[in-house]
Amino acid sequence: MQAVVYQRALRPLLFLLPPDTAHELAFTALGAVEHLAWVRACLRLLAGTTPASRRGAPTGRIGARVMGLDFPSIVGLAGGFDKNARRPRSLAALGFGHLELGTVTAQAQAANPRPNLFRLPADRALVNRLGFPNEGAARLAERLGEVRRSPTAPEGVPIGVSIGKSRVVPVDDLAAVVDDYLAAFDAVHAVADFVVVNVSSPNTAGLRTMQAREHAHALLSALRAKAGASERLLVKIAPDLTDAQLEDVLSVVDEVGLDGVVATNTTIARGGLATPATEVDAIGAGGLSGPPLRQRAVDVVRRVRARLGRRVAVVGVGGIEEAEHALALVTAGADLVQMYTGFVYGGPLSAARIGRDLARLVERSGAASIGDLVG
Ligand SMILES: Cc1cc2nc3c(=O)[nH]c(=O)nc-3n(C[C@H](O)[C@H](O)[C@H](O)COP(=O)(O)O)c2cc1C
Repeated sequence: MQAVVYQRALRPLLFLLPPDTAHELAFTALGAVEHLAWVRACLRLLAGTTPASRRGAPTGRIGARVMGLDFPSIVGLAGGFDKNARRPRSLAALGFGHLELGTVTAQAQAANPRPNLFRLPADRALVNRLGFPNEGAARLAERLGEVRRSPTAPEGVPIGVSIGKSRVVPVDDLAAVVDDYLAAFDAVHAVADFVVVNVSSPNTAGLRTMQAREHAHALLSALRAKAGASERLLVKIAPDLTDAQLEDVLSVVDEVGLDGVVATNTTIARGGLATPATEVDAIGAGGLSGPPLRQRAVDVVRRVRARLGRRVAVVGVGGIEEAEHALALVTAGADLVQMYTGFVYGGPLSAARIGRDLARLVERSGAASIGDLVG
């Protein structure tokens, strides 16, 4: 019902606005939710989500313990939506079972020149080339630290922070790149339940070369050494890697002993779109997200799980719009899933709706909980 109201009434209005203006408007609307506990309580009633104190009961089937953390639902928010940790309480109240905030960089930076975000409604997809606009890792840490210390912390859902490379640091100066990531890690690790190392955005020149064996090893081993054994460290990978490139980065994950892999980021591929090619060409460079990415994300998740076995957590992301899509990632090997584009097209209660439908699918399968279905 709420989804129909959003898709028939609200979304057409929001989609009249440029995408970044619509995003900012949604953030402004969530301001009231963020700062007023009673509004969040009402929202939770509407969403059918429970606060941390009572989590487990109705969400038991879709909750999971992963990396030693309790997730009330396996459906989380993907990196990039709340880059500066401005709305964590609201997003938790909307039914996300974890949040990946950021990507932040050691140095605050502006977005790439506009236009940098495009809708492809015929594919329910987005293309973005934002390039990590953010207020800097230290500012995120300050804001998130305040929220986490407050009595109304974000309803108990685990919170990860994604870190990336500052644009001003040249990608061919490996030592400087490593130092830049280390500085971002230093700033955020104390306020994060887990840290995701983003080496897969297509919108920071050359960043994806950090997935190559030597580069990945230099970066991830330095971060692992800094983090120590007790901090959870994951890497987010691209969907566009060849099998050999995927093997390279996964072998480093294995050697260095990372805790998990997030698969996948947006794609630079443009195959199989319903949107006319002229329109797609006119948009130009950027990362494509949403349903066109779905099958590739499932395939990459399957390969990650097959290569790394049970030693690591696998987070599946790409094209989730319905519970069935989340389940496909789980049966391919994902412990947790995330969404971004499906949230934009499906509306604010998407994660809560998908969680409820997923609980039904688990029940129908005869499994006690979603964890039993992980491939
Ligand atoms: C507008 C936009 C901005 C994004 N920014 C980030 C980011 O800062 N860091 C990141 O790791 N992923 C970022 N992503 C990628 C998403 O986290 C996700 O991996 C990708 O969109 C695929 O999931 P989806 O199909 O559910 O959107 C962004 C995606 C979009 C659409």
